[in-house]
Amino acid sequence: MKNIAKSVLAAAIAMGSWHGINAEVINLTTPGTSLVLDASVGQPLRILYYGEKVADDEIPALRSSALYYRDAYPVYGLYPQGEAALSVTHADGNRTTQVEITGVETKQEGDATVTTVAMRDKVYPFDVNVNYRVRPGYDVIETWVDITNNEKGAVTLNRFMSGYLPVRYGNVWLSSLYGTWANETNVTEEPLSHGVKMIKNKDGLRNSHTAHGEVMLSLDGKPQENTGRVIGAALCYPGNYKLFIDTDDSDTHHFYAGINEENSEYHLKKGETFTTPELALTYSHEGLSGASRNFHKWGRDNRLHAGDKERKILLNSWEGVYFNINEDVMAGMMEDIASMGGELFVMDDGWFGDKYPRNVDNSSLGDWVVDTRKLPHGINGLLDTAKKNGVAFGIWIEPEMANTTSELYEKHPEYIIKAPKRDVVKGRGGTQVVLDMSNPKVQDLVFEIVDTLMTKYPAIDYIKWDANAPVMEHGSQYLTADNQSHLYIDYHKGFVKTLDRIRAAHPHVTIQACASGGGRANWGVLPWFDEFWTSDNNDALQRIYMQWGTSYFFPAIAMASHISASPNHQTFRRIPTKFRADVAMSGRLGLEMQPKDMNDEDRAICAQAIADYKKIRPIVQFGDLYRLQSPFDKKGVASLMYVTPEKDDAVFFWWKTETFMNQQLPRIPMAGLDPDKKYKVTELNRIDNRPLPFEGKEFTGKFLMANGLDIPLTYRVDYHKNTDFSSRVLRLTEVK
Ligand code: GLA
Repeated sequence: MKNIAKSVLAAAIAMGSWHGINAEVINLTTPGTSLVLDASVGQPLRILYYGEKVADDEIPALRSSALYYRDAYPVYGLYPQGEAALSVTHADGNRTTQVEITGVETKQEGDATVTTVAMRDKVYPFDVNVNYRVRPGYDVIETWVDITNNEKGAVTLNRFMSGYLPVRYGNVWLSSLYGTWANETNVTEEPLSHGVKMIKNKDGLRNSHTAHGEVMLSLDGKPQENTGRVIGAALCYPGNYKLFIDTDDSDTHHFYAGINEENSEYHLKKGETFTTPELALTYSHEGLSGASRNFHKWGRDNRLHAGDKERKILLNSWEGVYFNINEDVMAGMMEDIASMGGELFVMDDGWFGDKYPRNVDNSSLGDWVVDTRKLPHGINGLLDTAKKNGVAFGIWIEPEMANTTSELYEKHPEYIIKAPKRDVVKGRGGTQVVLDMSNPKVQDLVFEIVDTLMTKYPAIDYIKWDANAPVMEHGSQYLTADNQSHLYIDYHKGFVKTLDRIRAAHPHVTIQACASGGGRANWGVLPWFDEFWTSDNNDALQRIYMQWGTSYFFPAIAMASHISASPNHQTFRRIPTKFRADVAMSGRLGLEMQPKDMNDEDRAICAQAIADYKKIRPIVQFGDLYRLQSPFDKKGVASLMYVTPEKDDAVFFWWKTETFMNQQLPRIPMAGLDPDKKYKVTELNRIDNRPLPFEGKEFTGKFLMANGLDIPLTYRVDYHKNTDFSSRVLRLTEVK
C-alpha cells in the first residue's frame, strides 16, 4: 500500500462507493452523514468534519471553514500535552511516535466499503492503519485501528483506543447510562464542562452494569428526543473499556473510546498486529431517538445475530421455581405456556450436576451433565414433553465458570483465573470461580460444552448463556509472567474465538447473553448472541426506566422483557398483570413466573397479551422507535412508539409512572407517522368494560403528531378492580 493516495480519486470513481474531491480529501458519506478526512501522503491523517451530509462540491468551501483540522488518531510523544489515542514504547525504549500517511486503500467487504488509511512511524517500522467501514443505507460509520510492529523487538502498547472524535466546543450535552445489578441503564444527562468526563469498566466480563460503553452527545443543548443534532458512539467490545471526553482550552471537546488500558499494557511481538475493537459512530438531526434508530437499524441488519428473525415468546423457569427443577414441574410449565399461546420454554439454573447436584448456587458449575435424580428421563424426556405441547425448548448454562465444588475444578484447578501465591478469590455462593478464556484448552472446553449439548440434543432451540462473576483477581495460570497484563484482553480474544467456533457449528440456535442480569448488553457480543437479558429486576415500573435507557443503543428485538409475579421478587411491589404485560410487550416478550400461581383472570390477561403481541411483534421487533416522553423527566407518564418503515402500522405505549389524585398529565404528541396517512386506533390488551372514546376512530398522522390522544388516567373497570397503575397499548393501522 505505497503512495497510492494519489490514485484515490480514480479509485473512488472506479468503485463508485465513496468520493475523493482531490487526491487528499476523503468524503465518507452515508445516506444522511459525512465524515471528511484529509489523507495527504507524508502527513498524519486529519479530520475536518463529521455531521450532516455534505456533497463533494461543498468540500473545497468546507475546507476553508472546516469544523476542525485535527489529527484523526492522535499519537503520543511530540507535543505530548494533550491526550493521545495511541501511546507506545518502541522496542528501543523510545516513548514517542510520529506517523505519516503512506497510502490509502479502499476495498469491498460484501456491500460495505472499507477505507484504510495506512500510516507509518517516520523512523520506526511501526504501522498504524486507521479503518472506516461504510455500509450502503446505514447512517453509521465503524472505525477501528490495526497496529503492526515490524521493529526488531517487542513494542509495548500503553494506550490503544479504537477511535477519537473532535466535537466542536459549545452547549454540548452528554447522555450516558449508569446503574448496577437490578438497576441497570439509568440515563444521565449533563452538559460538558472543562476537564475530563470518563466512563469506564473494569469488571473483566460484565461491562454493562455500572456503566455502558455507548454515549450520545447532543450538540444543541439539553438533549431532546426528536429534535436537535446528536452524535452517538458505541464501542463494540465485550470487555473493559474507557470512554472519555476532554474539554480543554481549545475550541474542541475531545472524545476517545477504546479498551481500558489500565493494567492491560500489551506487548506486541515483532510481526504481530493488534486490532482494536470497532467504534460505531452515528449522527442524526432527529434528536436522541434519531440516533437510536440509526443504531437499531444498523445493528439489526449487520451486527445482531439473526437480526432478521422474529423472536419467540417464552416462559423462563427462574423466578417461577428457582433451583427446584424436576420433571413434573417442567412439564407443568411447558403445558401452561403452551396453553397461553407461548412458543418456547426455557429451563434455567438447577438441572445439572452428578457428584455435586446443583441445588443452590454454591456448586456444580462446570459439570454440565443432567442431574437424573431431578430429571430421570434426561433432556430427551424434556424435549419430548416440549414437542407434545407444541413448544420449543431452551436451556441455561454458564460455560465460562466453575465452582470450586465441582468435578471440573477437582480435575483442572489450573483452568481458573488465579493470581500466583494468592488464595483463590471466590464469588457467588462462596465458591464460584472464572475459567481462564485466554487458555486455548479452556476455549476448547467451552466450545465442547455447547457443542456436546447441541450435538446430543439438536432439538434444543435456545440457550441462556450466563456469566455471574467478574474477574476477581488479576492472574492467569496460562499466560507467562511477562504477559500477565494481557489477561483482560486475551480473555476476550479467547471468548470471541470460541463464539466463532460455536456459531460456525450451530448457526441456528438462539442464544441469550445474560450476565447477572443485564451485564452483557453490548454490541461486542451481539454478533454471536440473538438477545440479552436486560435485568434480573422484572418490576414493571422500574423496567420502564431501564428499558428506556437500553433503547438508546439497542433494538427491542434484542431486549428480553418478561412478565413476572406480583409482588415482585426484587422490589416487592404489587403491580397488576395488565400493566406488567403492557411494559413487557415493548421489548422481546416473555414470562418469568410459575403460571400455576396465577388466577384465571391473570392467566387470561397473559394469554391476551401473547395473542396481541403476535400481532404487533413485527412492528416492535423490526420497526422504528420514537421515544416520546421520558420517565426520567418525572412528568408522571412515559411513552414511546414503534412504526413500520412503511409507516402503515404503529404501536403506541403509554405507562403512568406515578399516581396522585387529580394529577395533570401531559397529552403526548406522537411521532414517526406519515402526516398524510389516516390511522385507525385499536386498543390492545384491553381490560376496560367500555372502549376508549377513540376506539375504532380514524385520525390523520398530522393530527396525531401535532396533538396525540387524551388517555384517561384510570381504567374503566368495576370499582373493586381499580388500581394505582394504568397503561395503554394502542395500535394505529393505516386506513387504505
Ligand atoms: C443469574 C441470571 C438469572 C438466573 C440466575 C440463575 O442471576 O441473571 O436470570 O439465570 O443467574 O442462577
